Amino acid sequence: MITRETIEEVKNRLDIVDVISDFVTLKKSGQNYKALSPFNNEKSPSFFVVPAKGIFKDFSSGKGGDAFTFVMEHEKLGYAEAIRYLAKKYGVEIKEDRTLNESKEEQSEREGLYILMNFAKEYYKNILTTVDEGQSIGLSYFRERGFNDRTLEKFELGYALEGWENFSKEAVTKGYNKELLEKTGLVVKKEDGSSYDRFRGRVIFPVHNLAGKVIAFGARMLGKEKNQPKYINSPETDIYHKSDVLYGLFQGKNAIRQQDSCFLVEGYTDVISMHQADVENVVSSSGTALTKNQIKLIRRFTENITVLFDGDSAGIKAALRGIDMILKGGLNVRVLLFPDNEDPDSFSRKVGSSEFQNYLKEHTQDFVSFKASLYAREAGNDPIRKAESIKEIISSISVIPDPIKRSVYIQETSHLLKISEQVLLSELNKIIIQERRKTDKESHREQVDAPEPLVPVDEIDPTLKIDAQSLVHYQERETIRLLLNYADQSVEQNKLADFLFHELEDVEFNNPLFKEIYDRFKSAAQKNQLIDSHTFLQEGNDAIKAIVSDLITARYDTSPHWGDKFQIFIPKEKDVLNEMALSNVLRLKFRVVQKMMEDNLLKVKHAESSGNWDELDQALEMQTGLKKAESELAGSLGIVVAK
Ligand code: GTP
Ligand code: MN
Repeated sequence: MITRETIEEVKNRLDIVDVISDFVTLKKSGQNYKALSPFNNEKSPSFFVVPAKGIFKDFSSGKGGDAFTFVMEHEKLGYAEAIRYLAKKYGVEIKEDRTLNESKEEQSEREGLYILMNFAKEYYKNILTTVDEGQSIGLSYFRERGFNDRTLEKFELGYALEGWENFSKEAVTKGYNKELLEKTGLVVKKEDGSSYDRFRGRVIFPVHNLAGKVIAFGARMLGKEKNQPKYINSPETDIYHKSDVLYGLFQGKNAIRQQDSCFLVEGYTDVISMHQADVENVVSSSGTALTKNQIKLIRRFTENITVLFDGDSAGIKAALRGIDMILKGGLNVRVLLFPDNEDPDSFSRKVGSSEFQNYLKEHTQDFVSFKASLYAREAGNDPIRKAESIKEIISSISVIPDPIKRSVYIQETSHLLKISEQVLLSELNKIIIQERRKTDKESHREQVDAPEPLVPVDEIDPTLKIDAQSLVHYQERETIRLLLNYADQSVEQNKLADFLFHELEDVEFNNPLFKEIYDRFKSAAQKNQLIDSHTFLQEGNDAIKAIVSDLITARYDTSPHWGDKFQIFIPKEKDVLNEMALSNVLRLKFRVVQKMMEDNLLKVKHAESSGNWDELDQALEMQTGLKKAESELAGSLGIVVAK
């Protein structure tokens, strides 16, 4: 067992912000830090680190605890392994207490896999530099490609000898069991029970996880033998899921964080060559299209990604469409084309570090604008192709989650294609609605995509004085938002729309647009007609269209105070529709009453100053009645109002 003193020493030296920063970029927020949850997919941050207490709390998954807990949860390690990891990070020597437990601690299988992968990495590295075949074949290959010693060390490159059993024999000699060898995928079992090394006569590229542990290998052939794949990779294992890993992220994450941007390239060697050209903020998805999880992984460190293309890439448009996925993930996408027949690896070696860096700076283009100008040029004056191009561009814009960014891109596109923003907007809305209908039909729709609830501002910070009129406006808007998004959902055994009509019978909407929308819903319901947000987007005037599209697509960022100050987690809207509808009704009435009190108070003052005692009496009676209604509503809402 690891001694208590060792654990104490690790505890004393560690800094929880530093520990967690290896896996997530934390943003300072008052005394604390926050980030997007590394455990859940979320769009606004609910992961908090409180350095004063040495703890983290993730409101989206409910996980929380100290630095040890974080490492255990994130890296899926046992307690002892988490201590070892942190001890290594902080240079604490591990002392084991053998009187308590003579035998070596039982390691979990995952831990066993990590240990064996580490052994293999050291083995391949060692062969590259110390064994004849490694030096004459592997090392000379890397030298030819221009890799220096620092690079070999940074990426822990290696070489696997020719021959079927070199590695297995060595591993068995060192006491690793055969079953584990097969589980790592380093050894392949044949049907007759015998087995052989997966990697033979190839140079080895270890793949690291965020903590720097080796979880897989890529192995490149050296010659040009036919009938052989250029790369052989580790299979999926308990510790390696290809779609969750990016090559180079471990080596590049600090640079990505510092530069607040990340280059995406195709291959292992592109990543490595860029490091040699002193561009370290680079990752590769290793020859496949980027996955959702990989995008999420990048988003932990930056929101800006630049995709590097080969200049001659014939399938450039197919690739462009693939990039929509990154836009959808909420990242800002830029693209960069290399000259014909050059990739980052060849080009950086050809022109050298500083010219390469200049090229990156000067040739990077915003993705949407790039796509727009590409299509604009191509379509020329052909109206049919122009129409297709517009659809193509708008469909990219439509997946961007942030409505502000969307509108900026619409402006830009309008400018580039010389088409009015209005036309582009209505096309955009059409696509958004279509998509929305599609996802609505899927029963297990991802709820994170639902618009987030609006939080009444004065409940967040009571020192902010906001006039009654704005609060009424705000609450009316919230009512309309609920109607537009959830009219048909059930609330208290009724449809939400009917519930609202019933509850708000005596409430008159102030804002003419909201009133119009509300009345349309109401009269349709009376005639048993079906209408929804789509109806307004098709038939409404521009003002209606604008407000409806805003209310059905915008994801309102909850106030920064909300999580920090009150440590409140906001549940998914659909799950709490009952409460939301009810509290919205109460709040709207509450705000309306307050507005009436404000108006009535003017009457009181006026009556007082003009000496109209009858009017004063009436107004005061009214005020008392309103005050009573206000405190009743406040009581139901649980809000404390001044006496
Ligand atoms: P070099 O040709 O040495 O410059 O390698 P590269 O890393 O630039 O490879 P390339 O551009 O040909 O391919 C990009 C990535 O696709 C590679 O890094 C690999 O991850 C992957 N890849 C390429 N060829 C194969 C293959 O035959 N099998 C598998 N599984 N992956 C491959
Ligand atoms: Mn290459």
